[in-house]
Amino acid sequence: MSTAKLNLNGQDYELPQMKGSEGEVAIDIASLRATTGAVTFDPGYGNTGSCESAITFIDGEKGILRHRGYAIEDLAAHAEFSEVAYLLIYGELPDKNQLVQWKSDLADNSFLHERLVKFIDHFPLTAHPMGMISSMIASMSAFYPSDNDPEVADINFRRLIAQMKTMAAFTYSWSVGKPFVYPKRDLDYCSNFLRMMFGSPEDEYEVPTVIRNALNMLLIVHADHEQNCSTSTVRMVGSSQANIFASISAGVCALWGPLHGGANQAVLEMLSAIEEDGGDYKKYTEMAKDKNSGFRLMGFGHRVYKNFDPRATILKKACDDVLDHLGLSDPMLDIAKNLEGIALEDEFFVERKLYPNVDFYSGILYRALGIPVNMFTVMFAMGRMPGWIAHWKEMGEEGSRIHRPRQIYVGSTAREYKS
Ligand code: CMC
Repeated sequence: MSTAKLNLNGQDYELPQMKGSEGEVAIDIASLRATTGAVTFDPGYGNTGSCESAITFIDGEKGILRHRGYAIEDLAAHAEFSEVAYLLIYGELPDKNQLVQWKSDLADNSFLHERLVKFIDHFPLTAHPMGMISSMIASMSAFYPSDNDPEVADINFRRLIAQMKTMAAFTYSWSVGKPFVYPKRDLDYCSNFLRMMFGSPEDEYEVPTVIRNALNMLLIVHADHEQNCSTSTVRMVGSSQANIFASISAGVCALWGPLHGGANQAVLEMLSAIEEDGGDYKKYTEMAKDKNSGFRLMGFGHRVYKNFDPRATILKKACDDVLDHLGLSDPMLDIAKNLEGIALEDEFFVERKLYPNVDFYSGILYRALGIPVNMFTVMFAMGRMPGWIAHWKEMGEEGSRIHRPRQIYVGSTAREYKS
């Protein structure tokens, strides 16, 4: 076994090396404190491998993203969201019978418990849907068995994926005063969601194919992204052996922030502000470069990608295709492309390897689909649900230790208390 050598205060130590299946090298420091008395310091965990995982591979320098070995470009172009969910959770693409059963299970589990539906009425009208959904997911533990037995968990995976779309559509219906449209068993995942969002209980709603396909692709590109902030949160909470509803509810909250999934809402707000300000996008790139302005170019930059985010490349092309198909033009798309053009040539962004990320173009597509801005992060959460579940399951199967980082204490040293 290869080792890494560490010389600390004049003494030599050998640390085991690990190698991932794609050749990534890691130094195993799990015993460092016990053997040397020292801990490592890595604020924001930018250089810390927190687990071994077989779900998603990213090469940020080359702009590669694969789920269980399959390229995101292939999955986004050819797969069904429900199929990708199965792949992430169970490790292999479903065969024909497994897919039929899986889709049927998802359709059967789409209905919210009626008492959970009543929760919605008690939120103030100003409530953000992410807060409502996080609370409702945590509350599912009151309605369903939530121990971590694998068979119970397996049914809960289906409930979470299937009911997420219903919760999302219901929070929207409630916010605009539209009667709830209940799920239909014979519709696929995306058509069901779009009918619940935009249909009415009496009328049949024809789901436009372009819109259904665009939503399917959007959900796939959000389905997993290895140890990002919300997934690490799901793992962190789950490591205490908290139930899956508690763990995923915490993941929804982590996703909400504007530096993570909330960036898609922030991007659209930024593009609207630029438009209202006369479309002067250069002013905003200058502002983003000025550290004192407190302004960042939302939808730009990524902890892992130091090249194009492959998801952003897929979405940029989809924006052109979908808007073209629907005969729409959106000034936000022009502003976004101009911003990207300027930023990709500017020394500040080039030096720091800041490229558009998944959130830069997704909002323009959501707008074309008729999704309101405050629902954008909910759409991200709907897509990410299978990824969160896959990581919670993988962690449970591997029997992870409770997550408990160390710190470097910098406060007062011992002092005497005087009353
Ligand atoms: N606009 C302007 N400057 C930026 C930006 C930006 N969007 N992002 C990073 N920088 C600068 C930053 O000021 C720093 O400069 P310096 O080295 O001179 O101090 C350098 O680039 C590195 O930034 P960082 O904050 O240390 O990088 P990070 O890895 O900690 O943060 C990030 C990653 C995504 C939070 C950050 O790039 C950011 O805030 N982007 C805008 C928010 C956003 O779009 N988030 C969505 C991320 S993708 C979806 C997801 O999976 O969450």
